[in-house]
Amino acid sequence: MMIITKKNTTLLSSSLLLLMMIVTQTQPMIMSLHTNSRWIVNDRGDRVKLACVNWPSHLEPVLAEGLNKRPFDAIAKEIVEMGFNCVRLTWPLYLATNDSISSLTVQQSFCNLGLSDSLTGIADNNPSIINLSLIQAFQWVVRKLGENNLMVILDNHISVPGWCCSGRDGNGFFGDEYFNPEQWLEGLAKMATLFNNTQNVVGMSLRNELRGHGQDVTTWYKQVYVHIHTAQLVHTSHSSLFTTFPPDGRDLL
Ligand SMILES: *[C@@H]1O[C@H](CO)[C@@H](O)[C@H](O)[C@H]1NC(C)=O
Ligand SMILES: *[C@@H]1O[C@H](CO)[C@@H](O)[C@H](O)[C@H]1NC(C)=O
Ligand SMILES: *[C@@H]1O[C@H](CO)[C@@H](O)[C@H](O)[C@H]1NC(C)=O
Repeated sequence: MMIITKKNTTLLSSSLLLLMMIVTQTQPMIMSLHTNSRWIVNDRGDRVKLACVNWPSHLEPVLAEGLNKRPFDAIAKEIVEMGFNCVRLTWPLYLATNDSISSLTVQQSFCNLGLSDSLTGIADNNPSIINLSLIQAFQWVVRKLGENNLMVILDNHISVPGWCCSGRDGNGFFGDEYFNPEQWLEGLAKMATLFNNTQNVVGMSLRNELRGHGQDVTTWYKQVYVHIHTAQLVHTSHSSLFTTFPPDGRDLL
């Protein structure tokens, strides 16, 4: 359903996991969330259970998949009808830290990749986004999810836009070619600040699937310590975010 292009079809298989997270309440009114002991609760103190579907937006075109196939609202409504109340929206770090990517328009991004059929599909189904920059299009997706009463967890999936995950793609672990911890923190802070006042953004998962030959326990612990500060930093930028972090080559949310 959420697959955009021929190229990406195979790339998506590992990303299209349905995340049934801390689930039950399916139609929450979106309001800010906080914790009460082990529970996530809303402003009224009612328990909120997140049922999130994964929606990839970290692949080469850096646009939420499938917008060439159907109008946004049709996809969002179907997500709600399936019983989800939340989307885990993936993003590549470069969307936040690399202006030469984030400032590309949707049109330019697809043209650069030779995806003209997909671009035609976007022009047919979601014409208003064609001339938006990739970062504006990402904000548009988040806003439209909110309009459809869907909460969002922003998931930093990878650094360089593309399929995730291989152990040798240079994106796997702190210090790998494309995983500069400072740049990562900068990107997380930027994203948290960008959505500071966006109520339906309820959480960030800080990095998908740590992995690869470079991983080691000492660095992991050191970075988890940094992560605790990161979470505070993210929290300072966005006053009501939950943060999550993977223990090893898996997702944890
Ligand atoms: C930004 O992205 C471009 C295109 O992928 C890449 O060539 C460049 O090295 C990146 N710049 C930084 C600072 O990561
Ligand atoms: C996008 O921009 C082009 C010019 O760069 C313009 O011709 C076209 O009408 C614009 N499309 C939309 C949907 O705004
Ligand atoms: C985030 O928004 C809150 C309330 O709107 C504001 O007090 C705070 O300064 C903002 N933080 C940043 C980092 O922009």
